[in-house]
Amino acid sequence: MITLTNVHKSFGPKHVLQGVDLTIDKGTSMVIIGGSGTGKSVMLKSVLGLVTPDSGEITVGGNNVQSGDRDAFLARFGMLFQGGALFDSLPVWQNVSFRLLRGALKRPHKEAREIAIEKLRRVGLTPETADLYPSELSGGMQKRVGLARAIAAEPEIIFFDEPTTGLDPIMSGVINELIREIVVEMGATAMTITHDMSSVRAIADNIAMLHDGVIKWTGPVKDMDDSKDPYLEQFIHGRAEGPIEAVR
Ligand SMILES: Nc1ncnc2c1ncn2[C@@H]1O[C@H](COP(=O)(O)OP(=O)(O)OP(=O)(O)O)[C@@H](O)[C@H]1O
Ligand SMILES: [Mg+2]
Repeated sequence: MITLTNVHKSFGPKHVLQGVDLTIDKGTSMVIIGGSGTGKSVMLKSVLGLVTPDSGEITVGGNNVQSGDRDAFLARFGMLFQGGALFDSLPVWQNVSFRLLRGALKRPHKEAREIAIEKLRRVGLTPETADLYPSELSGGMQKRVGLARAIAAEPEIIFFDEPTTGLDPIMSGVINELIREIVVEMGATAMTITHDMSSVRAIADNIAMLHDGVIKWTGPVKDMDDSKDPYLEQFIHGRAEGPIEAVR
């Protein structure tokens, strides 16, 4: 469903992606791990075409992401941004059903609101939340509204950037289960970035570790613990000592 081939991206002198190769099969869940600032979010935004690589190729369903009809392309995706990226001036329910209120996916107002309330329920938020504004929510609630928005249009491809950061352990568990359900029930293809190793185990079919601008290790989650890869090992055990330097 998604392929990245020798993708490079620099910002000024900073060579962030230095030849990323990755394949994600349809209907599977890929989790990207790696240190802070290694380029995980940049990689995810490159697939959406929000960041343009300097070289290399990215395809979705066999088509180059930089070519073709952008609206039709983006209609296939749901995305949870790391920072939430909610619209401050819109109530929660209009944030969640943003795409259902306009454009190709437009539904009647009442239906869009009902869908928003149902999606809020799935992320553990009450119907009363629907009429609040983002500034009236806690950080964890904002995260869940972002998640509800990402799944609202039932996209075939869904990206989650740090879905459980800032959530309590129980809510993290709920969100991990939800992500797993979306992949299994909706047959969606998912790509998730997380630092949370319990999320990795709960969500992933496959994992890929980004380090020094390349995918250092990729494989099924079940192979992670016996990988013997020193980078992966250090990361999953959170050791200060190892090939990954803590200062970047
Ligand atoms: N639009 C941009 N302009 C300039 N530099 C950028 C831009 N976006 C990202 N960068 C740089 O690219 C590097 C990778 O950023 P990115 O957000 O992908 O990190 P990350 O792996 O997602 O980290 P974290 O785990 O902390 O979210 C950083 O050094 C960042 O400063
Ligand atoms: Mg990031």
